[in-house]
Amino acid sequence: MNRRELLKYGALGLASSYGLSRLPAFAQSPFPQPRTLEVLRADGVVEAQITARQSNLTLSGKPARLMTYGGFPGPTLRLREGETVRLNFTNNLPEATNLHLHGLHVPPSVDDPLALVQPGESRLYEFTVPKGSAGTYWYHPHVHGRVAPQLYAGLAGLLVVEGPLDALPELKGAEEHLLVLKDWLFSGNRIPAWTHMDWMNGREGNLLTVNAAVRPTLRAQKATLRLRLLNASNARYYRLALENHPLYLIATDGGFLEKPVELPELLLAPGERAEVLVRLSRPGNYRLQALPYDRGAMMMHGGMMGDQGMGMMDHGMMDHGSRGGMGDTGMMGSMMGMGATRLETLLTIVAPASPKPLPPARLRWPPSNGSEPARATATRRFELGERMMQAEFFINGQMFDPARVDVRAQLGSLEVWELVNKTDMDHPFHLHTYPFQVLSRGGKPAPYRAWKDTVNLRKNEVVRIAVPLRDFSGVTVYHCHIVEHEDRGMMGILQVKG
Ligand code: C2O
Ligand code: CU
Ligand code: CU
Repeated sequence: MNRRELLKYGALGLASSYGLSRLPAFAQSPFPQPRTLEVLRADGVVEAQITARQSNLTLSGKPARLMTYGGFPGPTLRLREGETVRLNFTNNLPEATNLHLHGLHVPPSVDDPLALVQPGESRLYEFTVPKGSAGTYWYHPHVHGRVAPQLYAGLAGLLVVEGPLDALPELKGAEEHLLVLKDWLFSGNRIPAWTHMDWMNGREGNLLTVNAAVRPTLRAQKATLRLRLLNASNARYYRLALENHPLYLIATDGGFLEKPVELPELLLAPGERAEVLVRLSRPGNYRLQALPYDRGAMMMHGGMMGDQGMGMMDHGMMDHGSRGGMGDTGMMGSMMGMGATRLETLLTIVAPASPKPLPPARLRWPPSNGSEPARATATRRFELGERMMQAEFFINGQMFDPARVDVRAQLGSLEVWELVNKTDMDHPFHLHTYPFQVLSRGGKPAPYRAWKDTVNLRKNEVVRIAVPLRDFSGVTVYHCHIVEHEDRGMMGILQVKG
């Protein structure tokens, strides 16, 4: 047996111990495309309706009681740059929710994460799709304290913005696929209640899906594929690699790069999107895999967490991060393992019989999105901290308070934010309303320029970002996109004044 087979059988063993052995892991389920939301489009105005509801779906051959926007993933909202959108959202859930347009540069008064839509009520989201924003975005709920259960239950959908760059021959000629990556945990047909451990780590599940399908097979008709990827998981990281093929990154959260970047693998943290080109040059079957990744999630080691250990933690001796404590000692590590995920196959791509990829695209830095970060007017520091045993999370030592403005800034200014992770696990830092660029990571300049709204911070890492506070004033938020951490305090309020 070679290493790959060993891994495969190892994974099988684990799968059966989770009761997953009869899942159609080897059945050739075809690759499902998320459906597109039907819209009314006239004179540059788009009208659409999205409804959140409880849904009984079949997931991996079994019944699943979920909350969705009418199936999972929710219907893809396809928009064009410059269009005016009137999106009506109706809440048919038995609990309050709302709709967040993750990554879209629209006024915070429209995309207001603090405004709730009560059961049976509707809210109209009216906005203009910014020029230069062509890219892959998504929508999901944003009710502080309930984001984790609502997102996990299936409330997520893609929002795709099309623009002039999509007409480039390689992009136009490519076969486009949307890939929503999400894991699930079920007990019977239901999603079980959150444990303390789930709030600490962010919940992961043992059932991995692409567009709700387990290891589907994508039979490519063309040799150049354009994959729009979304990590819609609460907490799972995907370190993506395609067998025998590099990935050509063409767009990140906020749209296109200046030129394609060839990558052997791509890390997608919760909330992040990426668009990659795959250039198939030989026939064959190639697996898109999630390689092992250790995000510092804590796993109890049997027997090592006795009463004594718990007692110590209750007394805050094991706090770390901005609250101080013993986090930097090896103590936590000796009592708990920092577990990496296993190698998983997400999808198999079957190349066409005699594939001929298109000539590589020459991208352009999108003009209206592309004003370069010039001179910063303010520098701020955001320190991520945690009290793990209490599952409490902090930014600059404070848990989220909707009545407190954490940062006051001036419209039109360009700020440099220094993001500092003082904890022992990864946190994907996300800012609403204002796309940013990563300047440096651990003191090293970013390898390429890209528009982002979510950036991962490894433990003890420092990332500097340039944030142009353009176009809209108002009150918006930044937070960790491991949504359990957001629910448990890792969020702050930014007020931009005109
Ligand atoms: Cu995708 Cu504030 O979130
Ligand atoms: Cu967001
Ligand atoms: Cu976090």
